[in-house]
Amino acid sequence: MKGTVRYLAGIAGQSGYGSKSTAEQVTQDCSSLPPYLTAIVTGATSGIGAETARVLAKRGVRIVIPARDLKKADEVKRNIQRETPNAEIIILEIDLTSFASIRKFCSEFLSLGIPLNILINNAGKFSQKLEFSEDKFEMTFATNYLGHFLLTELVLEKMIETAKQTGVEGRIVNVSSVIHGWVKKDHFSFNDMLHSKYYNATRAYAQSKLANIMHAYELSKQLKAINANVTINAVHPGIVKTGIIRDHKGLITDSIFFIASKLLKSTSQGASTTCYVALSSKTKGVTGQYFADCNETRCSSLANDDYEAHELWKQTRSLIEKRLRVQLRP
Ligand SMILES: NC(=O)c1ccc[n+]([C@@H]2O[C@H](COP(=O)([O-])OP(=O)(O)OC[C@H]3O[C@@H](n4cnc5c(N)ncnc54)[C@H](OP(=O)(O)O)[C@@H]3O)[C@@H](O)[C@H]2O)c1
Repeated sequence: MKGTVRYLAGIAGQSGYGSKSTAEQVTQDCSSLPPYLTAIVTGATSGIGAETARVLAKRGVRIVIPARDLKKADEVKRNIQRETPNAEIIILEIDLTSFASIRKFCSEFLSLGIPLNILINNAGKFSQKLEFSEDKFEMTFATNYLGHFLLTELVLEKMIETAKQTGVEGRIVNVSSVIHGWVKKDHFSFNDMLHSKYYNATRAYAQSKLANIMHAYELSKQLKAINANVTINAVHPGIVKTGIIRDHKGLITDSIFFIASKLLKSTSQGASTTCYVALSSKTKGVTGQYFADCNETRCSSLANDDYEAHELWKQTRSLIEKRLRVQLRP
C-alpha cells in the first residue's frame, strides 16, 4: 500500500529520485563524468532504449547502437544529432535471436578498437505465439535472455580491460521487469524455456525477465571474485506504452491500458532507472542489485537464489559452447 502511494505520488526514495523522475533529471549530476565513455545500448531503435541512447548521448557518451533495422537506427541517430550535434553514434547490425549475428556484431565492434564502459542489455520481445529463433530456441527467451547472455560474454573482456586501463568502473545494466516475480520455481526449467511444450506468452516473457536478473546476480559474483572493476545490475523500468505493449492490440488490452493510464510512465520516466544505474555516482560500486524507480529494491526470492542463478548460468554457457563449438570465458 505504502509502495503504491509512493509510486503514484512520485515520492522520492533514498536516491533522491522516484517514479516520476525522468532520465534527464537523474543524469543532471553527471557533469563530472569521465570524458569519452562508450556505451552499447541494445534495442535503441525504439521505446525505452531510444530514450536511453538519447540521454546518454546528451551527457557526452559515445553510443553504439546494435540494430536489426538499420534504417530505424539511422533515424534514431539523426534525431539524437539534431539535439546533440556532436554526439558520436555508431550503428552496427545485430539480430539478438541469432548467435551467428551476435558473434558478427561483436567481432565488428571489437575490430573498431574503441573502449567499452557501459553495456545496456535493453532489447526486448514479447512473442504472442510460439515461435523459434534461427538457433531453434523459443523466441522470447532467445531474444531477451540468450542473446544478451552471449553478447555480454563476448564483450566482457573488453569491458574489464577498459576499466583496468582507465580506472573508470564499467557498468552493465540488464533491463528486466517486475513481472519476473510471477514465476514460480516449478515453472523455471531451462529445457522447457528453450522448447516450451505448453506455451504461454506471458509466462515465457516473465521467465526471460527472471533470467535477466539471475544473470546479473550470478555474473556480479563472478566479477567480484576476479576483482574486475565492472558492475552488473538489473532494473525494472516501469510500465511504459512502447512497442512491446502496442503489439498487443485488442479491446481488452486497450481497456486495461485506458483504466491503468494513471500508472503508466512516460518513455523518459521509463528510461530513468537504466540511466541512473548506468551513470550516477551514487551507484558506484553497487553490483548484483535490482532497481525500480531509481532506487534499489527487492526482487523475488527466486531471482536471488544463489543455486538457481548459478545453475542457469552453467546451463546457458554449456548450451552456447556446444552450439557454437567454442569456449567462452574460462
Ligand atoms: N514497456 C514496458 O512497459 C516495459 C516494462 C517492463 C520492462 N520492459 C523492458 O524494457 C525493455 C525495452 O522495451 P520497450 O518497452 O522499449 O520495447 P520496444 O519499444 O518494443 O523496443 C524493443 C527494442 O528491442 C529491439 N529488438 C527486439 N528484438 C530484437 C532482436 N531480435 N534483435 C535486436 N533488437 C531487437 C527492437 O528493435 P526493432 O526496432 O527492430 O523492433 C526495439 O528497439 C525490454 O527489455 C522490455 O522487456 C518494458
